[in-house]
Amino acid sequence: MGLGTITKKRTWLVTGGAGFIGSNFILAQSLDPELTIINLDKLTYAGNLKNLAGIKNHHNYIFVHGDIGNESLVQELLQTHRPQAVINFAAETHVDRSIQGPGAFIDANVVGTYRLLEATRSYWAALPLNDKETFRFLHVSTDEVYGSLKAAEPPFSEESPYAPNSPYAASKAASDHFVRVYHQTYGLPTLVSNCSNNYGPFQFPEKLMPLMILNGLQGKALPVYGDGQNIRDWLYVEDHGEALRLVLERGRVGETYNIGGDCQKTNLEVVQTICSLLDQVAATASHVPHASLIAFVEDRPGHDRRYAIDSTKIRQELNWRPKETFDSGLRKTVHWYLSHPEWVSAVQTGAYRDWVKQHYGQL
Ligand code: NAD
Ligand code: DAU
Repeated sequence: MGLGTITKKRTWLVTGGAGFIGSNFILAQSLDPELTIINLDKLTYAGNLKNLAGIKNHHNYIFVHGDIGNESLVQELLQTHRPQAVINFAAETHVDRSIQGPGAFIDANVVGTYRLLEATRSYWAALPLNDKETFRFLHVSTDEVYGSLKAAEPPFSEESPYAPNSPYAASKAASDHFVRVYHQTYGLPTLVSNCSNNYGPFQFPEKLMPLMILNGLQGKALPVYGDGQNIRDWLYVEDHGEALRLVLERGRVGETYNIGGDCQKTNLEVVQTICSLLDQVAATASHVPHASLIAFVEDRPGHDRRYAIDSTKIRQELNWRPKETFDSGLRKTVHWYLSHPEWVSAVQTGAYRDWVKQHYGQL
């Protein structure tokens, strides 16, 4: 039985809701007048309350500044707001940063998730039987836990073995395992989703798409790692959010659901497509064609060659389908970055410039 069918008025504790996917998710779900969302976010460099400015005064939205690893804070939030679900987006998420310093990833993704699970378990254990049965803990994870595919291999299914290759991927894999354990050992009603690469509004410009869009608009080099032939499976962020809502409300407890766009592209194809769109929207720029800005740079260590997701399970069981195509989603994304210069300049702070300088050097 799904959450939505039990009671109309619901409360969810969402963690990491000031980041890219979490804020898109909260904005979409906040249209539901029966739902109250408590957003617990540490506001790391990737967290941005500007993403949620449109709903900050809504009576059914509450922001709490804090760490998922702060067990007593999470306990207090659970006792005060009595949510029917916890949805965990909170994580350190950038692979390149994880290579430079794995520690923060272990703290947030492994220890943080463990402490969030502990706090949730003790709240859940004391719920009345009916509420215990309908409660859900949804852990938002990644396809990177499955490692890298060879060109001819079939896409990752829910049965693919875990084989993480970066500190980020290992930390997410460990957190997935802990979520599994809390279901198997303690009976906590958990769900895990493993999704492919997202793109869309509010993505921090350290990630491929926003980095290329903004560098292109600003006439800067477009740094493509290695030979640019690594493949990612792209999904528009709102389609991910819709999938998560379905998993939460109708997914089978203890199960994993793979979510992907069925949209495999090489990085070079992605960058070239962005360049063609920029040629249209910034036709008079001095650096047209934008593809002339492409610069092949040193490869990412341990760089996964290919990701691809087999999303048959969620399509068949929950009748989920992505609404955006790569073409429509990418157009929306480019347009969003073009039409939000104040958001862009606010995130391109000194700290952001320091990262770019440290990671890419003088391009
Ligand atoms: P993001 O980096 O944009 O946002 C992460 C958010 O988590 C930020 O708001 C940050 O402040 C917050 N946070 C970090 N550590 C925290 C802590 N200890 N306590 C509370 N808040 C904390 O990330 P994203 O791209 O939105 O990813 C969200 C989730 O989805 C992550 O778990 C990630 O692994 C997963 N995921 C991302 C993608 C993708 O393509 N971006 C794909 C699949 C899965
Ligand atoms: O697959 C899901 C994952 O997708 C999420 O779990 C991660 O949180 C998210 O960051 C993303 O990981 P990737 O490593 O695939 O994303 P990123 O945007 O960093 O890179 C995408 C591809 O582009 C990858 O093959 C590396 C390449 N790249 C990236 C950057 C930042 C470049 O060629 N140049 C760059 O400057």
